Amino acid sequence: MIVSIDGPAGAGKSTVAKRLARELGLVYLDTGAMYRAVTLVAMRLGVDLGSEEACARIAEGVELTFDAEGRILVDGEPGEPEIRGEAVTREVSRVSAHPRVRRAVVAMQRRLGARSPGLVAEGRDTTTVVFPDADHKFFLIASPRERARRRAAQLGQEDRVDGVLEEIRRRDHLDSTRADSPLQRAEGAVEVDTEGLGEREVVERMLDVIRARETAP
Ligand code: DC
Repeated sequence: MIVSIDGPAGAGKSTVAKRLARELGLVYLDTGAMYRAVTLVAMRLGVDLGSEEACARIAEGVELTFDAEGRILVDGEPGEPEIRGEAVTREVSRVSAHPRVRRAVVAMQRRLGARSPGLVAEGRDTTTVVFPDADHKFFLIASPRERARRRAAQLGQEDRVDGVLEEIRRRDHLDSTRADSPLQRAEGAVEVDTEGLGEREVVERMLDVIRARETAP
């Protein structure tokens, strides 16, 4: 079974996807971590992040896998926590906007999907491009302020909600207006409004949808 989950930055996709994967006994595929990892390697090597050619060469050459806990390994080495750092977060939209980078990363994601008996894939374009034929597709939404609050809490920086809100608006804009795979709701994706809901409640709603569909004649 393949479940794909999409939605804007801070909508709770990763926490929800992790939990849903656990509940369903499936592998969790964090696609954002893969773009972050490519960005991290590019920054370490000091390449021009505006160069599609240079970034694509990295995406095509790096080996990205996941450990048993779903944490990314970059050429076999842990990518956490560096991939979550501010520098990578600031630059990842630019790197992930290059079509050739996306092609290489999407190909890796499909290979991982083909190898595993089932997975929950989370990230922009997983419902539209990577796994458009997923058994279940979800689009999570929440207001920008709620998303900023969650992101700030996740970073342990509750006093920085306004700053994070700025960042979220900037990323929303970049992610939804880019030419290749802009953020959009896939046909057939079930929209789940997570405003004011806890992680458990969101996952329960998704499980209800999945169960109802799996048992439907
Ligand atoms: O979900 P995240 O914050 O870890 O994602 C990091 C960046 O990668 C974000 O700017 C959008 C991009 N991304 C993407 O373009 N496609 C995906 N499938 C996942 C993430």
